[in-house]
Amino acid sequence: MTGKEIRQSFLDFFREREHTIVPSASLLPDSPNLLFTNAGMNQFVPIFLGERKPDVSRWPGVIPGRDTRAADTQKCIRAGGKHNDLEDVGFDTYHHTFFEMLGNWSFGDYFKKEAIEWAWELLTERWGFPKHRLYATVYKPDPGEPGELDEEALEIWRKIFRDAGLDPEVHVRFGNQKENFWMMGDTGPCGPCSEIHIDLTPKGDSQGRLVNAGSPWCIEIWNLVFIQLNANPDGTYSPLPARHVDTGMGFERAAAVIQCTRGFQDFSRLVSNYETDIFQPLFRRISELSGRTYAGTLPDRGEDGAPILRTEQQRIDIAFRVIADHIRAVAFAIADGILPGNTDRHYVIRRILRRAVRYGRTLGFHDLFFYKLVAVLAETMGDVFPEIREKQRHVEEVIQSEEAAFNRTLDRGIEIFNEEVQRILSQSTASKVLPGEVAFRLYDTYGFPLDLTQLMARERGLTVDLEGFQKLMEEQRERARRAQKKETIEIQRADTLPPTRFVGYDTLSVQTRVLAVLQARGKPAIVLEQTPFYAEAGGQIGDRGTLQAEGQTWQVIDTQKVGETWLHILDADPNGPLPEVGMEVTATVDRDRRLATQRHHTATHLLHWAL
Ligand code: SER
Repeated sequence: MTGKEIRQSFLDFFREREHTIVPSASLLPDSPNLLFTNAGMNQFVPIFLGERKPDVSRWPGVIPGRDTRAADTQKCIRAGGKHNDLEDVGFDTYHHTFFEMLGNWSFGDYFKKEAIEWAWELLTERWGFPKHRLYATVYKPDPGEPGELDEEALEIWRKIFRDAGLDPEVHVRFGNQKENFWMMGDTGPCGPCSEIHIDLTPKGDSQGRLVNAGSPWCIEIWNLVFIQLNANPDGTYSPLPARHVDTGMGFERAAAVIQCTRGFQDFSRLVSNYETDIFQPLFRRISELSGRTYAGTLPDRGEDGAPILRTEQQRIDIAFRVIADHIRAVAFAIADGILPGNTDRHYVIRRILRRAVRYGRTLGFHDLFFYKLVAVLAETMGDVFPEIREKQRHVEEVIQSEEAAFNRTLDRGIEIFNEEVQRILSQSTASKVLPGEVAFRLYDTYGFPLDLTQLMARERGLTVDLEGFQKLMEEQRERARRAQKKETIEIQRADTLPPTRFVGYDTLSVQTRVLAVLQARGKPAIVLEQTPFYAEAGGQIGDRGTLQAEGQTWQVIDTQKVGETWLHILDADPNGPLPEVGMEVTATVDRDRRLATQRHHTATHLLHWAL
């Protein structure tokens, strides 16, 4: 089966079982505590929590089935946050920053029996996975962990393996909270899970020893979660109003098993997600552009499991995998509106992009290349995720400009890094630590994200002095804080100030009433019921203008805000004649000055954006 056929076959299978087929949600999650959409269930959280009716068949863009059943393929990114696979990407055959998760859901409808039996049926009957190579895990908490042994799932799995003529004692394994209790983040709907793993060893005779042992020869392909609890922010768990099913299958992993073994005929070679028709078009393009060839080698491993690179080909192959993986995360994130930047999820995308560009050097790229891979995604994935085709130009432009910006400092940064590594390795003490100062300089001046420096250090057998790095970061933050001149407005009066209604987006002159007369900066400060004066905020200076009443005019020389109260600071003697509380005044903004200020402020935003 091609990737496309596998995806379709999954959806068809669940459609036959009355599931509504829903489109993938955006990578930008609704949940405030997630960096990216990290699982198919994210878009259903309000249903699990009972905040929304199970009404999927009425959602836009669906192929309707039951309201209470759904299936889809969901774009996921697992980089940063609770589920973070970034460190492994490129160094193995099956971890990704971006992947598709095939999933089926029950919202208070079917539960463990159907979820498990259908998973088994799809894998073994419809797709032909060899039964003796499959292992199921069941939740068994350690003391102090939530819930209890999942007897129900255990019994269902025991029967399935017994019926298949296999020993349940061998094929059913147990896992504690870390392995078999699924949470999307620190809070939210969660519950015990049963994972299905496949033994990929040539003979398929590992007897379950490799399950959850971090071996590429036995990998998890499908996770069946039985959602029945909500994790509260205080660390406790409460039962949900109903019980639900949330399953997630690694699409790329399933495709790898099916395709690399030529339909389960040949298990002699290690199965790799990259050797599927999902990644091969990207590899072909990287090859064309770089003139290098992918050979599928993996790093050697030290005793502690750390990767060791001995050959040039190992480096090249890692670079192929990293670049092919990262373009998918970066391009789809940008297509969903997550632009590279300096904060939270935006910085994760920038980090991923910069890693890819740095790995481009391993393949001999010095000119811009990364953005050219977007066309491959539009071509191969545009049918399933039309946004990548529709936004292709935009995505290419964003990547191109990011790439160009990093390219300018990358080579000098690599040079500095190499000189430092030489220096460290030539010392007789051979401390294998890259000083925090170097990592900081690379970060601050050359734009190297810390994890990129760590990765480069790891490739040379070094670690980074994190404490030293963090100390310099903190010092820099302190410097920045000190440099921010923040003036506090001291006002003479301790009682709560009345709020002001701001009307200055719609009008520049109003009749209003004086609510209070205070002093600020040694000048009279008038509080009005409503005001057209823009108070200094976000880098835009406060308006000037006039207050007029009873034949008198006062000049407003600045407008400041304290909480929700606007202070109109007058150029007047505090002891001279002033507006009085209760007086009706006309407040008028200096229009030319306001328009000039607005233009400057807009230009500042444009400049920041361009920078
Ligand atoms: N939410 C579970 C997971 O991501 C199953 O879909 O593994």
